Amino acid sequence: MELCIKNGTVVDWSGSFKGDIYIKDGIISEIGRSLNKDCNTIDAKGLVVMPGFVDLHVHFREPGYTYKEDMESGSKAAVKGGYVMVNLMANTNPVCSTVEIANRVSERAKEVGLVEVNQVLSITKDFTGDDLSHLEPINKGEVKILSEDGKDVMNSEVMLNAMIKAKEKDITVMCHCENHDLSKIDMRLAENTMTWRNLTLAQYSGCKAHFAHVSTKESMEYIIRSKRKGHKVTCEVAPHHLIHTDKKEYRVNPPLRDEEDIDYLREAIKLGYVDAIATDHAPHSEEDKKNGAPGISGIETAFSLCYTELVKGGWIDLCKLSELMSKRPSEILKVNKGTVDIGYDGDLVLIDIEKSYRIESEKFLSKGKNTPFNDMKVYGEVRATIKSGKVVYEKKEDDLDDYR
Ligand code: DOR
Repeated sequence: MELCIKNGTVVDWSGSFKGDIYIKDGIISEIGRSLNKDCNTIDAKGLVVMPGFVDLHVHFREPGYTYKEDMESGSKAAVKGGYVMVNLMANTNPVCSTVEIANRVSERAKEVGLVEVNQVLSITKDFTGDDLSHLEPINKGEVKILSEDGKDVMNSEVMLNAMIKAKEKDITVMCHCENHDLSKIDMRLAENTMTWRNLTLAQYSGCKAHFAHVSTKESMEYIIRSKRKGHKVTCEVAPHHLIHTDKKEYRVNPPLRDEEDIDYLREAIKLGYVDAIATDHAPHSEEDKKNGAPGISGIETAFSLCYTELVKGGWIDLCKLSELMSKRPSEILKVNKGTVDIGYDGDLVLIDIEKSYRIESEKFLSKGKNTPFNDMKVYGEVRATIKSGKVVYEKKEDDLDDYR
């Protein structure tokens, strides 16, 4: 299979140029000007062509909660948002604690055929908080990430042992930092104390630790300090923790924070301390949301929100946004994506960065319509997503979205 994308403005983390990209057998095979190929061709004149986005933090709810989202609705939402790969959390039903369940999820993703997935395994077996027996049979290379997302591991000895095991097997531990004893008292204290604990345990054990949805100034300060000391720490920030909204009470975990936090996180991004922007796409049904379920359905709006607020807002340029949404997440997941160069996966997103639109949650392809950003005017519309040289999403002029 071959595809040529011509006349676009190609932008990745390293810079930009006007030119053509030729993808053969799923891989970028040639880059240049005026490439002459006798194959399926897309004219990207007036569009920006970037590496497809890779999301480190996503809930597709399969198995068990498919009324909130399933592989098909989640995948459609993802490619509409420009994503080519998602890292799926383990808070499913059953909890994803075995390689067998993870493989089944990956098979489902292949059946749907739109987006690539990496399925995370829980840190403790079935989120029990103390049982690590499920980590024993994992072979090296079989699992990339462990996470107790939605929770945290409260017992420090258990967390330390999990990190030691993870190091042995070259697995990254993704930390949802929250002390549940303190959540009822102060959600800031709950995040800050566990960020500090998890950083300390990661340093002690020497395991690779990735900090999920960092939302407070203090947590980011601890992470920056650790990075400056050269520890193996990476972190992500979610778009909703970077953007001011008048719906500050909107339920999400960690909660929407203060202006001071938002500015600090933006500054941390600008200074290069943040590795990735990850959505924490957490779709819920209307009823669950009414009953207080925390989360934001964010995978369809992440690029536009970040482009509008961070790039048009003058904090970073588009190359840096590409690094945060494609290059660094690809490195953390150890996949051959995130860069437009010969030999990399032919996974691209075509964007009209001039186009503005209003977010309409009713039009989300995700089953979850839950967002505090409804009706917000944003810039940057995804026009097409290409996965392994195949168009998996295309925005039609008449506003109907098309999936291949
Ligand atoms: O807001 C959230 N929703 N935070 C989490 O950590 C979990 C997620 C979910 O699964 O709904």
